[in-house]
Formats: sequence, structure tokens, C-alpha cells
Amino acid sequence: MKFFVDTAEIDQIKELNDLGMVDGVTTNPSLIAKSGRDILEVTKEICGIVDGPVSAEVVALEADDMLAEGRKLAKIAPNIAVKVPLTWAGLKTCKTLSDEGTMVNVTLCFSANQALLAAKAGATFISPFIGRLDDLNMDGLELIEDIRTIYDNYGFETNILAASIRSANHMSECAKIGADVATAPPAVIKAMANHVLTDKGLDAFMADAKKAGIKIV
Ligand code: G3P
Repeated sequence: MKFFVDTAEIDQIKELNDLGMVDGVTTNPSLIAKSGRDILEVTKEICGIVDGPVSAEVVALEADDMLAEGRKLAKIAPNIAVKVPLTWAGLKTCKTLSDEGTMVNVTLCFSANQALLAAKAGATFISPFIGRLDDLNMDGLELIEDIRTIYDNYGFETNILAASIRSANHMSECAKIGADVATAPPAVIKAMANHVLTDKGLDAFMADAKKAGIKIV
């Protein structure tokens, strides 16, 4: 499963990228706003740090305006994936941009039917939001399973990009289901390494090494 980092914070992207944990980056208007940076400037900088797809989201709602924004974003760098919302205007824009050879990430997906429409519109990525469904006592991971089943049934090439990831457990569950990508905040990716028995075991090893005076260098 590929890891995308869900942030527009340059230092956090660089840190995880140096650890080899970044196959791509996703941003959205909220994350760009949080960074306090100009969207074109910060997106270009991110595209210079990572080799993989970098998702940048349009802020228009009408198809013609979305297309104009999408074409401008696509010019930033070859690894740009233009992010459009799952509306009919977004699907129309997705079809046009995909036909032009631009990677498209269709976002704000909350149902299997929406994911089916995005695949038929030629999306490179579909972003189902797990956490926001869980927030409403719905089962976000079940949506990933359903989309996986449907896409495999018909051989759709659209990549399932699990989004709105809230925990390390979401990451392993997405991997078990067979999501192509999971995009997570830096803190969630870091938390994947945590295990109390690893810490406890390491403490015991270190205590024994100290007691025995083990020296390597
Ligand atoms: O990319 C979508 C993601 O940023 C949304 O996450 O935690 O706001 O639901 P969240």
C-alpha cells in the first residue's frame, strides 16, 4: 500500500520523505489555509520535494471554472494530481482533464455509487473519507471494502486512496482490505511505529546490555 502524507506543512513532508515513508502528498483547501501559504507557491515547493503524485484541489464549483483552475494547477509540475469534488461539475472536469492526460483525484467520496461514477469518469484516484463516516457512526472501512469489490469486479484502474484517516489502525485495516493508497496526517504515520511491547522489550534489552557492560563501538 502506498503512503501519501495529508498535509501542506513542508517540514513534516521533508521529515517523513527522508524516512522513505512518502509516496505522494495530498492537500485540500483547509490544509492549504492552515499552512498560511499561497496555494501555487507551496504546491510547487511540495512537488519539488516528493517524486510521487501531489494532489492540489480546485476551489471553484462550476465545471468551466474548475477546468480553468485544474489546467493551471496541472502546469505546476508533471506529478500534480488535480483534486475535484464528487459533484457532477467535478465529474465533468475529471473526464476532460483525464482525457487530456492529467492525473485526477476525485475527493469527498462517501458512497460506493459515487466511487463507481468517478471510475467511469476516468479518475486516477478516488478519495473515500473514512473518518468522517465513522464520525457519524457509519462504517468508513466498509466503504473501502465495497469500492474494492466493485472496482475488482469490473477491472476499474482507478486507485482507491483512503482518506480522512484518523488512526494507525485505519492504516493497517486499509492495507488488509487492499486499498491502493492511504493518505494520513504525519502524526498518524509516525504512530504506526508505536507498540508498548517494543518499548518494554527495548528497555529490558538496554538494561541487560548495561548490566553486562556490552560495548560495540
Ligand atoms: O484529505 C482529506 C482529509 O484531509 C480529511 O481529513 O480528518 O478532516 O476528515 P479529516
